Amino acid sequence: MSTATAELSKVSSTEFKLALSQFASGVAIVTTIDAAGKQRGLTVSSFSSVSLEPPLVQWSLSTSCNAHAVFIAASHFAVSILAEDQAELSTHFSRAVGDRFLGVDFERGLHGLPLITGALAWLVCRSDKTCSGGDHSIFLGCVESCRVFDRKPLLHWRSRYSAISAL
Ligand SMILES: Cc1cc2nc3c(=O)[nH]c(=O)nc-3n(C[C@H](O)[C@H](O)[C@H](O)COP(=O)(O)O)c2cc1C
Repeated sequence: MSTATAELSKVSSTEFKLALSQFASGVAIVTTIDAAGKQRGLTVSSFSSVSLEPPLVQWSLSTSCNAHAVFIAASHFAVSILAEDQAELSTHFSRAVGDRFLGVDFERGLHGLPLITGALAWLVCRSDKTCSGGDHSIFLGCVESCRVFDRKPLLHWRSRYSAISAL
């Protein structure tokens, strides 16, 4: 192990989370369909762009998430980037509720994937690669289609939601 890595490994989980929470991000709901045809989804802030040619995006998923095996097996996933008035939906899709889609407005996109109504943008992706990253799996997706709406983003910074208009 290099000296730098050894130094870094001394970082406590509290310090690490605090440092990472300084990185402002958007919030997205990633969805897929399981083998039984049921829609699955969760809130993520780890989503980001990777490549233009081909158009690739990535996000990471905790191996302890109930839907982990479903996303590993899925050929496709969709990303709904949340708008500033969707903080409640973000919380909802991170909580243990039976069917997260019950009472939630969504449409079906390519491959029947659920796309959250009122989002800022939708991307439908072919799951290109997954790799292990500690207690998470990293998903690389090739974007097959996307659609953008004229709305403002929901932001997440220092473990709180914010809106551009509030800054
Ligand atoms: C703002 C926000 C961002 C999140 N980002 C991620 C993420 O990038 N990856 C992840 O695995 N979980 C993330 N989570 C937590 C998951 O949404 C949550 O653990 C998951 O929905 C739990 O699903 P389960 O109860 O079905 O296991 C985030 C939660 C919130 C509120």
